Amino acid sequence: MAKVLDGAAIAAQIKQEVAEEVRALASRGIRPGLAAVLVGNVAASEIYVGSKVRACEELGISSDLITPPSDVTTAQMLELVEQLNHRDDIDGILIQLPLPPQIDSKNLLDAIHPAKDVDGFHPINAGRLQAGRPALAPCTPAGVIEILKRSHIPIAGKHAVVLGRSDIVGKPAAMLLLHENATVTICHSKTEDLAEHTRRADILVAAIGRPGFVTADMVRPGATLIDVGINRLTTREEFDRFFAGDAKREATFAKRGSTLVGDIHPKAFEISSAYTPVPGGVGLLTIAMLMANTVRAAKLRRGI
Ligand code: GUN
Repeated sequence: MAKVLDGAAIAAQIKQEVAEEVRALASRGIRPGLAAVLVGNVAASEIYVGSKVRACEELGISSDLITPPSDVTTAQMLELVEQLNHRDDIDGILIQLPLPPQIDSKNLLDAIHPAKDVDGFHPINAGRLQAGRPALAPCTPAGVIEILKRSHIPIAGKHAVVLGRSDIVGKPAAMLLLHENATVTICHSKTEDLAEHTRRADILVAAIGRPGFVTADMVRPGATLIDVGINRLTTREEFDRFFAGDAKREATFAKRGSTLVGDIHPKAFEISSAYTPVPGGVGLLTIAMLMANTVRAAKLRRGI
């Protein structure tokens, strides 16, 4: 029977630890602060940023939600980042992605001071991570490691296969797994004989953004499956492809007109030894790790 790796429980544990750190800092007169920048009216981004701001409130971190209009220019955004870099009450700067097409996203993210880069996207932090120096690591990959460690799933010596090579998830996840002494394979859209690789995984991390892409025949029975994908299903055909006969999902779909599926097909979970569900898995860790990074940034910036 496959074990469900409960993202909510692990995220709650991490948040509790972060809240304790926030209280310890408060006794020294320090309150960590996060600036969350949400451009325009992208519904998914509004939900994510809302969750991030609420998590700050829950843990005693101050938050400043900044909402430039969707026609904001790169120059205006650079000016905003410059102000935030200089504000002493701000320890972390989060610019929610994706940004509108007129914004030079790379240039903008590079303008965030590396010490305040709580997303871990700045090339300086990517380089530090690569070089094995303490760094603000990207939140989702850091969450993947926390799930594995806190669930006592061995990483050292195991074969971890990462599906996806994005700068935000795939590459840093591979690097963090390597630092934990896994043998790491990175697969991507051009990989030949993909299933040959995925079937060799003791730990399979799927981060490609394609609903249910990893099917049961691509998975070694007994593997640990970490599903980073969050894909929304809105049509009956799509729904039936993944969840036909699943009464609980059926109820969600009937109520909301949509449901979420990861990059791993639910049938593949059945043959795993442990897996992260969608929703309720890795996604919740992303926010917890953002909180952890914000407190870490607050401490590092003060030499604590
Ligand atoms: N959009 C989707 N995931 C993320 C994330 O982790 N950070 C930011 N800034 N934007 C995102």
